[in-house]
Amino acid sequence: MLKPEIEDGQASLANPTFRADVLAGFALRPRAIPARWFYDHRGSELFESITDQPEYYPTRTETAILRDAAAAIAERVGPGRAVVEFGSGSSTKTPILLQAVDPAAYVPIDISGDFLRISSARLAQRFPGLLVLPVEGDFMRPIALPAQVADLPKLGFFPGSTIGNMVAASSTDLLRAMRSSLGTGAMLLIGMDRIKDRAELERAYDDAAGVTAAFNVNLLERINRELGATIPIDAFRHRAIWNDDRARIEMHLEATRDATFTIDGRPFAITAGETIHTENSHKYGPRDARLLLRAGGWTPVDEWTDPDDRFALILAEAQPQRLAP
Ligand code: AVJ
Repeated sequence: MLKPEIEDGQASLANPTFRADVLAGFALRPRAIPARWFYDHRGSELFESITDQPEYYPTRTETAILRDAAAAIAERVGPGRAVVEFGSGSSTKTPILLQAVDPAAYVPIDISGDFLRISSARLAQRFPGLLVLPVEGDFMRPIALPAQVADLPKLGFFPGSTIGNMVAASSTDLLRAMRSSLGTGAMLLIGMDRIKDRAELERAYDDAAGVTAAFNVNLLERINRELGATIPIDAFRHRAIWNDDRARIEMHLEATRDATFTIDGRPFAITAGETIHTENSHKYGPRDARLLLRAGGWTPVDEWTDPDDRFALILAEAQPQRLAP
C-alpha cells in the first residue's frame, strides 16, 4: 500500500497563489490580503446573502436602475452585439440586460469554472436562441474572446461596482484591458457606487445580522482550512470604516487581543488593535466616475441613476485609438 506523501493533505491542495498572497500579506505592515480571496464556495454564498440584507443597497438599487433604463440602453446599443460580462457571478441583472438588448451572443467570463458552467447552462435554457460562450479566466488579465464573436460588435457589462475593489491605477489598467479585448466599436455598461453619507455607507458594510462580518471572517477560516493555519478566529473582529480621503469603505479584521498562530507551518503574531486590511470599496462622485472611464479609454455617453443618486449605471463607448486634442 502506498504511504501518503504528505501528512497535512489539506495544505498540499492549496492554491499556490492563495498561499503566496497570504504569506506576503501577513508580512506587510499594515497586513493586507487581496479581496479576491473572499470568494471560496462559502464566501460566494455569504456574498449572495449580503445582497439580501436591508442595509446593503447596491445590488437592489442597481437592479432597479437597470430595469428602468433597459429600453433606453437597448436603443443606444442596438441589437446583434456580443455581450461580454466580466465576473459573471450568479446575477439576476444579466437576464434583464439580455432580454432588452437582443444580443447575438453572451460571453460570461469568470474565474470559478463550476459557477460559470452552472449559470451559463441556466441562461442558455432561458434564452434558447442565444449563443452562450463561457470563458473561464481572470478578467484582470488580457483575455482572448471566442472566435465565434470575433466579427460582432461588443457590449462589455461590468455591474456591481466591482471596479470599486481596485485602486485608481489598477482600475484604469483593467478598463484599458477591456477596451483592447472588446475592440473597435465596443461599448461598456458599468455600475459604479456613489459617494454618500458616511453612516449609510458604514452600515451597508456592517449589517445588523452580521452577514458582512461573517463574510470578512470567512477569509481567516479559509486560510485555516486551505493552508493548514491555526489562526484563532475569536481573536478578530470585523471593521468597516469610511476613508474619506480615499473615498472608500475599507474592511479590516482587527485583533481584539494579542495572538500567535502558524500559517503553512510558519509562526506569526499580531498585537491587540492591529488589523488585516481585507477590502477596499471605492465610491465615485459623478465626475469621478466619468474621469475614471476616460482615463481607462472609454467615453461616457449616457448614465442612469436611482432617484436618490445612490448608484450609477454608465454607458460608455471605446475611444478611438488616436485621440484628438
Ligand atoms: C462585490 C466588490 C462590489 O464592494 O460592495 C460587499 C463586495 N464586500 N460587502 C462591494 C462586498 C462587502 C462588493 N463588491
